[in-house]
Amino acid sequence: MSKIHNAFTVLMGIPTPVVAAPMAGASGGALAAQASAAGAFGFIGAGYLTSTGIQEELSIARAQLHLSETDTLPIGVGYLGWQLEKDPSSAIDLLNVALSNRVRAIWLAFGNNIGRWIEYVRSYDASSGRNHKTLIFLPISSVDAALTAIHDWKVDILVAQGSESGGHGYRVAPPLLTLVPAVLAVLPKEGPPLLAAGGLSTGGHIASLLTLGTSGVVLGTRFLMTKESFYNEVQKKMLVAANASSTVRTMSFDLARGTLDWPEGIDGRAIYNRTVKDIDDGVDVEIVRENWDKARQNGDADRILVWAGTGVELITEIQSTQDVVWELHADMMKYLSLVSALIAT
Ligand SMILES: Cc1cc2nc3c(=O)[nH]c(=O)nc-3n(C[C@H](O)[C@H](O)[C@H](O)COP(=O)(O)O)c2cc1C
Repeated sequence: MSKIHNAFTVLMGIPTPVVAAPMAGASGGALAAQASAAGAFGFIGAGYLTSTGIQEELSIARAQLHLSETDTLPIGVGYLGWQLEKDPSSAIDLLNVALSNRVRAIWLAFGNNIGRWIEYVRSYDASSGRNHKTLIFLPISSVDAALTAIHDWKVDILVAQGSESGGHGYRVAPPLLTLVPAVLAVLPKEGPPLLAAGGLSTGGHIASLLTLGTSGVVLGTRFLMTKESFYNEVQKKMLVAANASSTVRTMSFDLARGTLDWPEGIDGRAIYNRTVKDIDDGVDVEIVRENWDKARQNGDADRILVWAGTGVELITEIQSTQDVVWELHADMMKYLSLVSALIAT
């Protein structure tokens, strides 16, 4: 199989410049392991997990990758900053599970004190007496946030998250075609590899983002639609049926389920349904909450929560994670060859 050779793939030691995003409530050890096994790089979404839960998912990944207890785990763990910030002492436990498992990377997002957790990860590596560097992935949605991540925090991999993204993100995030060139314009030559996230579903998308100057991409929704994701059958059916007009950026589901500690300026892209309509129409939040809870128990597509990015239109089936990675790789290669063939000599 031909590989992509760039700063990101070399740093990670992978052939395919694709990351399966950390997705709280959706990506566990199986999804992450299968993505990495296929040549991409997979994350566990640890946002709402306890330390025991994280350890269980890490053990699943370790078993699926046939690795011993002392081997480095070629996957990452993604944390929600605001969850860590709720209780700093249990935050250390949550981080330590991943660090003691020698994961290859930690992803930190959506917190008011991200620098503190980055510092902790670095100090853990420095004081552990082992030769292991935990790479820090950081999503950003503005040039200012990129500058902080590059110069103050010296992150290892920067992820430009556009407004097309499924799940949570910055309400005012520009679309990728604006955000990526704006960040590249301030990225120093020796700066971290830049990845793009948001609405990407196909190999053609990946080829276009590589052509734009990124070193790789992060896909969430595409990996949500796999056999390994934790989404249930109703949610997966809704994703298959959804089109480009089905998603909306909203806080309705956070209001319904009571997750309201997100930092200022965050909302999430999900499939539009009655829960969003009710909030938009001013229905009392308590009533929305009760209806949502009942719907969740009954699997009622009219009201349940299904996060999804704009690229959901282009995904029409549920596949295995490995098949998704291989298909994306082959498709991306096809598009890249087509592009190079355009140049007349
Ligand atoms: C179900 C779901 C859960 C997500 N959970 C997280 C999370 O826990 N932490 C995070 O930083 N991003 C999270 N995201 C956003 C992803 O990291 C990524 O930026 C996004 O999925 C990319 O857009 P796409 O879904 O259109 O591919 C989530 C996305 C989805 C779809």
